[in-house]
Amino acid sequence: MYHTGIEAPQGIWWKPVHKSEKIWVSIAFAWCMVLFAMMPLWHLRGGQNPSGIRHRVDANAYRARVAEFIAQYQVGSDRGMPVVAPPPGSDVYLQAQMWSWLPVLKLEEGAEYVLHLSSVDVNHGFSLFPLNVNFQVVPGYDYGLRVRPTAAGEFEILCNEFCGVGHHLMVGKIIVTPAAAAGAPASAEGARSEPQASGVHQ
Ligand code: CUA
Repeated sequence: MYHTGIEAPQGIWWKPVHKSEKIWVSIAFAWCMVLFAMMPLWHLRGGQNPSGIRHRVDANAYRARVAEFIAQYQVGSDRGMPVVAPPPGSDVYLQAQMWSWLPVLKLEEGAEYVLHLSSVDVNHGFSLFPLNVNFQVVPGYDYGLRVRPTAAGEFEILCNEFCGVGHHLMVGKIIVTPAAAAGAPASAEGARSEPQASGVHQ
């Protein structure tokens, strides 16, 4: 026996759909619509979008800008790496390259900065330990994030994008000093107990 497609198939397929199947299809369809609506909704309301300003940048131009930034605000050095303390409100530059983060940044708790991230060679990943902050660092793009450190301390920058044999050695540092003035607004209610919420803010 073979089937031609012209004759009606055998069985009882023409009987009305069972009620439970109708319910199931309705639920599945409604859920599909919910998930579909979540996509634009989360984009607008999810608070997940980086506060980024993106520009194309030439690797050499970025390298020069980082060098200028270091020369301007260097306050010391840490194992051969310059330590840079830019004033609150300023533009801060971090350069990723195989296999280091340049320079060590010294920021003030509660102050706002624009943190520029770019790579001068391959893709790297910026993740701030132990906070839940993750960004791609892409050559050719200057990614400016508006950040406000909400907890004082030392934070490690770990590379989370495989970038060659020295990938696991690619560790940088951000030092956050406690808010300078006594009774400064940011120090009263620290985000110390809530690491996920701190780090990068809109
Ligand atoms: Cu840079 Cu991995």
